[in-house]
Order: sequence, then structure tokens, then C-alpha cells
Amino acid sequence: MIKVGIDLIHFYTPQVYLDLAELAAVRQVPVEKYTVGIGQEKMSLIDPYEDIVTMAAEAAYDIVKGREENIGLLLFATESGVDYSKSAGVYLHALLQLNPHCRVLEVKQACFAATGALLLAKDYVTLHPDKLALVVASDVAWYGLNTPGEVTQGAGAVAMIVSVNPRLAVIEEGKAIVENSKDFYRPSYNQVPIVDGKLSIRSYKELLKQVRPDKPLKFVCFHMPFATMSDKASEVLTLPLSPEILMATKAFNKDVGNIYNGSLYLSLISLLTTYPNSLANETIGMFSYGSGATGETFYLIMQPQYDKVIDKKVFLSLVNQRRKADFSTYERLMTGYEHREKSLNFTTTIPNSKHRFVLTSIVNGHREYLKR
Ligand code: HMG
Repeated sequence: MIKVGIDLIHFYTPQVYLDLAELAAVRQVPVEKYTVGIGQEKMSLIDPYEDIVTMAAEAAYDIVKGREENIGLLLFATESGVDYSKSAGVYLHALLQLNPHCRVLEVKQACFAATGALLLAKDYVTLHPDKLALVVASDVAWYGLNTPGEVTQGAGAVAMIVSVNPRLAVIEEGKAIVENSKDFYRPSYNQVPIVDGKLSIRSYKELLKQVRPDKPLKFVCFHMPFATMSDKASEVLTLPLSPEILMATKAFNKDVGNIYNGSLYLSLISLLTTYPNSLANETIGMFSYGSGATGETFYLIMQPQYDKVIDKKVFLSLVNQRRKADFSTYERLMTGYEHREKSLNFTTTIPNSKHRFVLTSIVNGHREYLKR
């Protein structure tokens, strides 16, 4: 039986964040509501010269390097699309200098699209075992200033190479579920989603209940719109997770925020990085939820040498070495982001920073990027 799964994984989050204690002070909310009730400490903020394409490129660059010729499929999962027609994957394909015969698509189904893409990539690689697939999840979770969702914002990207005989984890399929729901959606003309927060939590738990693993598992990662959603999800399992494992799955997400499609995979990276013991040969349950609503469970069988293909120091530094923004910078960045995404023309100053990929301008709707 051919083994297919995740060979390599990497992520990126913008290098500036807002401390949610500052947001709580301005919004006159007890800080414990955010840090205990919602479970979030910080959220990443997107810089003016970053977007879903640059974040995806930053996440993918190191794992794609040297494999450009072998990637036959690029699936770009996002719900923060920058164009209704042209896939963000086409911009990414150019930035990563992939081979010209690669099949490129953008995939959408709220936060579930990355999982749909990963499982489709698995099927593709099973049929084309000499090829690799690149799956990226990249989003800016933006609900708007002074909204209930504000505390659950964030930005970031995760990239995965799917191959035969993967070094990180073999994928085993579970069960999918779909139910038409009005919990969260963003009609094409709207800058921010329309959200029924309470319904969305109920819908998430209901779909999980219908596809949860039959047997208790020691490790499960959940789609994580905010950290305490994982506690609620854990209670739906046949046996809740231990507090230590839950904490390891939340460590990065509580400091980055919701990154929509990448959130489940950021939780996986968080577990792989912060859980103190080896996960070799362990099975990790994965629950993906996308509003609207779809859910799916699947399983990752961790490979014996998985820790040789991840760099925990790099992962930790991406989260821990960001610069802190004050509240007025947050307002300026996010108002600027919203304005930019409505504009056909845009230019910005590019700082002398560590960013490898930057958005330099938008000219008549076309995005211009620079690789440095
Ligand atoms: P809210 O109404 O501001 O908050 O919305 P709340 O009043 O429900 O309070 C939140 C929790 O804090 C509650 O705990 C309070 O008791 C507690 P819970 O009842 O849930 O256990 N609390 C306190 N705790 C300690 N000290 C205090 C205190 N005060 C209150 N002083 C909500 C919260 C998450 C609904 C809102 O932020 C929201 O709408 N967020 C966006 C939607 C969302 O994240 N939904 C999650 C499920 S849907 C999903 O995951 C899909 C998604 O990623 C999108 C996609 O698929 O594309 C969102």
C-alpha cells in the first residue's frame, strides 16, 4: 500500500503584533475575558507590504527550494482572496519560480479549504507518485474595529509539501460532513464577514460530534479560531485531551490569532514544537471546520524521523521575535489593509527588513511583488 502524506511543513506570521491587554483596555473589557474566556494573548497584524501571497511565499520558500521542478500541483487555500478570477496561486507560482507545467488553483470553503486541498493533494500524489504537491493556506482574519470578532483576528500562512513516503506524517482519511449553515459568511461585496458567533460555536461542535474519532486518542488538533474553542471541542471527544496536550496545541495560536485556513496546521506545528516528548509513531487526530459549514476528521501517523525535518528554533522565533505595536498602530495598519484591498492602485514604502517577499504596488488591480 502506497504511503502518502506531509513530507515538509512550514509557516509564517507577520512580524508585528498587538497585545490583547491593550485592546481590552481600549474596549473597556476585563482583560480576563480575552485571556481566559477567549484564551487569546496576542494577534499578528499584517504590514502594508504584506498580503496573502507574500505570507504564503514566506511560508513555502524554504520547503520548496530545490523541489521547484517536481511540484505538479499547487493548491492555494484562502478566504481572503485578492481577486475573484485570478488565483493567488499564480502570483505565488511566479514568486517561487515553480516549473511552468504545474497545475495551479485557488481553493475556497472558509477555514476548511486547506484541509480539502491537502486531501485532494494526497489523491493527486497517489495517482502521480513521482510528483509533489504544494498546499498553502494563507489568510488575514479581519472582522473590523470594535466588533465581537475583533479579539479573534490574526494573519498567517502554512505551507506543506505532499509526497509519497513522507518524512513528517502519513495521512489516513476519516470522515467528512457538510451542513448548510448561516454561521459565518462574507458576500463578495463585503470587506468583513457577517458572523453569528454563538451559532458558529454550536455549528462547530455539532459537526465535530458527527465525525469525531470513534476511539479515544491521546493527541488531537482542532481548527482553532480562538484558543478556548479547543477546550470546547475537546469536551466533545469520547475522552477529553489532557490539559498538557491541549496547552501544547494552543501555544502558538493564542499568540498569533485566527489565521483561518492555516489555524489547524499552526496548532499541529505548535504541538510538534512545544510538546516536550517525542511524537514519533504517534497518531494525531485532526479536526477541520469551515463555516458555512463543512467539517472533516483525518489522522496523521507521525514518522520516526519527523523531528529531523522541522526546525523548532525557527518556528519559535517566528512567534517570539515579533515587534509589539500600540493600539494606534493597530488601527492604522488594519484601516490601511482594508483601504488597500479596495484599491485598484496602491504603493507603499518598503523598509529594510528581513522579509524575503514584499508587495511593492498594485497597478490597475495587478499586484507587483519583489523577491529580495
Ligand atoms: P462575545 O459575545 O464577545 O463573548 O463573543 P462572550 O460573551 O460569549 O464571552 C466569551 C467567553 O468569555 C465566554 O466563555 C464568557 O463566559 C467568557 P464561554 O461561555 O464561551 O465558556 N468571559 C469571561 N471569562 C473570564 N473573565 C471575564 C469574562 N467575561 C466573559 N471577565 C465570540 C465571542 C468568540 C463568539 C466572538 O469573538 C466571535 O464572534 N468570533 C468570531 C467567530 C468565531 O470565532 N467562531 C468560532 C467557531 S466558527 C469557526 O471556527 C470558523 C471561523 O474560523 C471562520 C471560517 O471557517 O472561515 C471563525
